[in-house]
Amino acid sequence: MRRSGAGMTRPAPCEIDRRRLLAGAASLLAAVALPAERTAAGVAAVPAGGLSLGELAAAKGLLFGASFATHELDKPYGASYAATYAREARMVTSELELKLYTMRPKATALDFGPADRLVLFAREHGLALHGHNLIWNDALPDWIRRLGPDEAAFLMDTHITTVLERYRADIPTWDVVNEPIAPWDRLPGNLRGGVFYAALGEGYIAESFRVARRVAPQARLFLNEAQTESDDENGAVFRASLLALAKRLKAEGAPVDGIGLECHLDSRRPYDFPRFAAFVEELAAEGFEIAISELDVNDVAFPADPAERDRKVADVYRRFLAAVLPVKAVRRLTLWQIADHTSWMYYDDVRLHPKALRRPRPLPFDERFRRKAAWSAIAEALDAMPPR
Ligand code: XIL
Repeated sequence: MRRSGAGMTRPAPCEIDRRRLLAGAASLLAAVALPAERTAAGVAAVPAGGLSLGELAAAKGLLFGASFATHELDKPYGASYAATYAREARMVTSELELKLYTMRPKATALDFGPADRLVLFAREHGLALHGHNLIWNDALPDWIRRLGPDEAAFLMDTHITTVLERYRADIPTWDVVNEPIAPWDRLPGNLRGGVFYAALGEGYIAESFRVARRVAPQARLFLNEAQTESDDENGAVFRASLLALAKRLKAEGAPVDGIGLECHLDSRRPYDFPRFAAFVEELAAEGFEIAISELDVNDVAFPADPAERDRKVADVYRRFLAAVLPVKAVRRLTLWQIADHTSWMYYDDVRLHPKALRRPRPLPFDERFRRKAAWSAIAEALDAMPPR
């Protein structure tokens, strides 16, 4: 994370994802094919009986899942990773597979490999899929960043069309535009700049949704945004900017079905979760379905002791979900990965601090896929929430 202007937090771009994705492609499907029962090595026993998070959520009419990265299947723990999703989740979100730098590394190459693999995994395990994402002014290969306005507008329409034509039968919900707000870019509406904005101005957003609706009329189309949660100036600016954008899109009839709120919670920031829930209600009152789309808890400011840290992280999940799950418009809850060592925070930490003894513990499963305190906190919140 980099700070940029007025306390805004601009996420650092990550160029290594494509290499990560491709690293193990040779052993394609080796792990996918393993049934859950054959994953004993390295997996702690899950208590017999009892419902999974996905089952607890489904009982309330909420779709529960997590982002999923196919390259994890090629790791020594790949079978355990697969089994954890098969057991706990009802849906998976593509973490890297559909991003532009994965699919279009070069102007002359279109790579469906990772996304096809994800579709196959979801099908084999009976998991729903959420497509993340079609258009984002990040995760772009350099050749797209250099496009002129006409080329960028053409690519935008072509990309949405090509991807939806291929996957519309398998992927029912999509983040059509990701993270359109970036106050540090100092553009009208606090919109984020980039090639698509340069080509069409704010209109790139509505146009993306219109193309998506035309190509995949059955799909549920989402706008996804970050940083709306914190009870500080940053959160307030993101909330106001997103609400205003959502209202403008609605006013011009753009086919936006829902809003995804990422909710990467951070131990360094202040929160007032009931106040955030009031904002979620406000968005919902405009007629949008709501998804909590990328939930995790950055524990960097919590104590070093792992057990104590796990309790603190669990407490954030507990308080956040207790405030937000009562909002009936929230129909999907997605964690950003499922186990600590497969989190983006863990990867970043290893890259930035290779020798550190302490590693992030942001998720409900540990490095051996054992349930942690956060698992219980989420389970209890799902159990206590009102049904949809
Ligand atoms: C992240 C992935 O988790 C990382 O592996 C990658 O290096 C960068 O992107 N907001 C989003 C997600 O919408 O796509 C980002 O995912 C996290 C922030």
